Order: sequence, then structure tokens, then C-alpha cells
Amino acid sequence: MAEPAGSIHAEIMRRIHGTNVYSGFVPTFAEDRQGWNSEHTSFEEIISGLRPSVVIDVGVWKGASTIYLADLMKRHELPGAVIGVDTFLGSVEHWDRKSAFSGLLPFRFGMPMLYEQFLSNVVRCGMQDRIVPLAQTSMVAGELMRRLGIRAGLIHIDASHDYEDVLQDARTYWEILTPGGFLVGDDYNQDWPDVIRAANQFAIEKSAQVLSSKPKWIIRKAP
Ligand SMILES: C[S@@+](CC[C@H](N)C(=O)[O-])C[C@H]1O[C@@H](n2cnc3c(N)ncnc32)[C@H](O)[C@@H]1O
Repeated sequence: MAEPAGSIHAEIMRRIHGTNVYSGFVPTFAEDRQGWNSEHTSFEEIISGLRPSVVIDVGVWKGASTIYLADLMKRHELPGAVIGVDTFLGSVEHWDRKSAFSGLLPFRFGMPMLYEQFLSNVVRCGMQDRIVPLAQTSMVAGELMRRLGIRAGLIHIDASHDYEDVLQDARTYWEILTPGGFLVGDDYNQDWPDVIRAANQFAIEKSAQVLSSKPKWIIRKAP
């Protein structure tokens, strides 16, 4: 895959992976961009106003939100990259066969095949020059990016919906959010009371305000 040497995407790919992870990859899954609140209006408002060069999507599932964010950057002629962080193993609600969210995760021999579905979707949409996958826990990925000096103007948190996890994700990703940047989280609604509690607690810690654009919670870092 040819891309201009020295692009933001190439530089982030080099820093995180040391190689282009798409090299030799041929999509194995049909396109399936099933997701939740993946194309929320707040994304375009922030991207068009702030014009960030790096966006981080934490909890990407099959890639719907990541691809949408990358497409917005392309449409607004921003030469940047979206880093997509996920264990690609699914959350507890995707594994719990009594949950309404079960049956959506592709498995092979008992192992989730989310990463291949994600990569297939990215390549089928032609977004491989704009998206850098990072298959790790949100904690390890955040610490890695901090060490590598990667910073982002928009960070979307949509991984685990457990209170402690959301709070930890907010704390970790705040450290790599640029001044004036936006932390946006999904599912700030009564179906996910832990998310509401964690976002509110984090705002108290930072003496910041939760700007809700339902079902997203948004907290801006001072410029
Ligand atoms: C609700 S889905 C993300 C949906 C996606 N943003 C969309 O557009 O539809 C949550 C994702 O978070 C991931 N996840 C859960 N806990 C995680 C963790 N601790 N670290 C990284 N990813 C995690 C799961 O594998 C799952 O793919």
C-alpha cells in the first residue's frame, strides 16, 4: 500500500507497530458495520471546529465509529489519522448469552474474530491510509501512546461500561488529550448508570462540566 512517506498516519503506524499492519492483508469478512451511536453529530461538530490531526477511538467493535471519524477527517480535508483501540475480544455483554447484545460477535473455534472483521471493514471502505489499529486493552494502549508521545484532540471512550473502567479510561486518556481537546464518551443514559456516574465523577475530579449531547458525554480540556 503506497502512502506519502512522512504522513501523520505513516508516522503513527511506524511508532506503534514499526511496520504497516495492512501489508498483505486481504479482507476475509464481508462488510458489516453494525455498531451503536457510531455516527453521532457531536463528532462532526468537534472535527470541523477543532480540526484535530489525531483522533483516538477507544472501543471500536467492528469499526463503525472509527471509520466514521476517519471519513469525517477526510471530508474536512484533514491530513490526520484515527487510532482504533480495542482488545477485539468483546465486552461482558457480548459474551453473556442471556444479554440482548449476545450473538453479534463472530467466533471461530471459541475465539472472537473481531479484529479480522474490523480490518476487513477498514480495507473495504478504503480507510487503511487513515486508520491505525491498536489491539490492546484501553489501559495498555493509553500508557503506550503516552510513552510514544502520541497526543489527540478528540478521544472517544466506548470500551467497557463498568464504573471503574470508564473512570480509569477517562483518567488515562485525559493525560494524552491536547489542551482544548474533547473527551467524548458513549451511552450517557439511564441504560448505563455506571457510565453516568463515572463521567460525573470524572468531571468533579477535573472541576469541569459534563456537556451532554445525548447519548454522548463530553468534557473539554481547558485550552
Ligand atoms: C460498545 S463496543 C464499541 C462500539 C463502537 N464504538 C461502535 O461504533 O459501535 C465496546 C468495545 O469495547 C471493547 N472493550 C471492552 N473492554 C475493553 C478494554 N478494557 N480495553 C479495550 N477494549 C475494550 C470491546 O471489545 C468492544 O469491541
